[in-house]
Amino acid sequence: MENKIAELKSAASDAIKKVANDLKELDNIRVKFLGKKGELTNLLRGMSQLSAEDRPRIGKIVNDARAEIEKLIAEKNSELKAKALQDKLASEKIDVTLPGRKIQRGHLHPLTLTLNRVKEIFINMGYTVEEGPEVETDFYNFEALNLPKDHPARDSQDSFYITEEILLRTQTSPVQARTMQKNIPNAPIKMIAPGRVYRRDDFDAAHSPMFHQVEGLVIDEKITFGDLIGTLDFFCKQMFGESTKIRLRPSFFPFTEPSAEVDVSCPICHGHGSGCKVCHDSGWLEILGCGEVHPDVLKMSGYDPSKVSGFAFGMGVERLCMIKYAIDDLRLFFENDMRFLNQF
Ligand code: DAH
Repeated sequence: MENKIAELKSAASDAIKKVANDLKELDNIRVKFLGKKGELTNLLRGMSQLSAEDRPRIGKIVNDARAEIEKLIAEKNSELKAKALQDKLASEKIDVTLPGRKIQRGHLHPLTLTLNRVKEIFINMGYTVEEGPEVETDFYNFEALNLPKDHPARDSQDSFYITEEILLRTQTSPVQARTMQKNIPNAPIKMIAPGRVYRRDDFDAAHSPMFHQVEGLVIDEKITFGDLIGTLDFFCKQMFGESTKIRLRPSFFPFTEPSAEVDVSCPICHGHGSGCKVCHDSGWLEILGCGEVHPDVLKMSGYDPSKVSGFAFGMGVERLCMIKYAIDDLRLFFENDMRFLNQF
């Protein structure tokens, strides 16, 4: 009997030692040796066959063995739990000195930045910002601007027609007529109208079938060509820098008379030209068309040219942006290449 107890003890002790990290396995061992049907309990059942004087002695040995196995199990149990905790801590370890992951922040598109600046400059001069539809009627896009159906100047703006009378607007100029018509006749106007325009152009470094313009219109008593020049000179200095100069070249637009095209001194080489890639050596860059509002345009929209006069201008936003940031390919604005966009 004593031998059996000793064997059991050492078998239990070996089994407990072998457990590496499984608490369940340890519990199985406890049940196997100490449980109600366990091996030690079985031994105790044999006690009834022992003599009366052996019984207390053997009983003590069995109890000692039980206590010892329980102790081993308890020790193993806390060892395994400590190990599990260590493993958990190791796997969840955070290196607080690692740099954080940066959140990508969005930012405005270069064209939006440019347009915002244009708006800001004109709003500061007291201009309102007007809007007109991109799907426009032939009347507003052409006729109200002094371009009757057979006018040759229509050819210079290859249009996307939807029906014979409806097209995608080729310019923001129709907002001139729309604004005049919604006003009380001869009421002063000082407005800009930014927006998308569409032409049947190729998509290349200098053209896109969709681009942006900002229209300008000022009407009041005694508005002169000098007011126009002063306004554009001020605008260009605000936009491209104080040292910017403008120059006007005579031109033709059906809705203005006289008409001009305006160049700015190249803000990259400051008008010096030689070797400049932006202005191609010329020192000047064309930015807009303008003129005194044609009397017929005033008349057609209910204004009286004997009482009021006005000036108008129209500029391309892509062009302004290309000049401001020395960008040489217009397609970059529309291709969503993050290497380009992230620079703004
Ligand atoms: N609408 C013209 C264009 O797209 C630009 C323009 C020229 C607008 C002269 C005007 C103007 O208001 O007076 O080519």
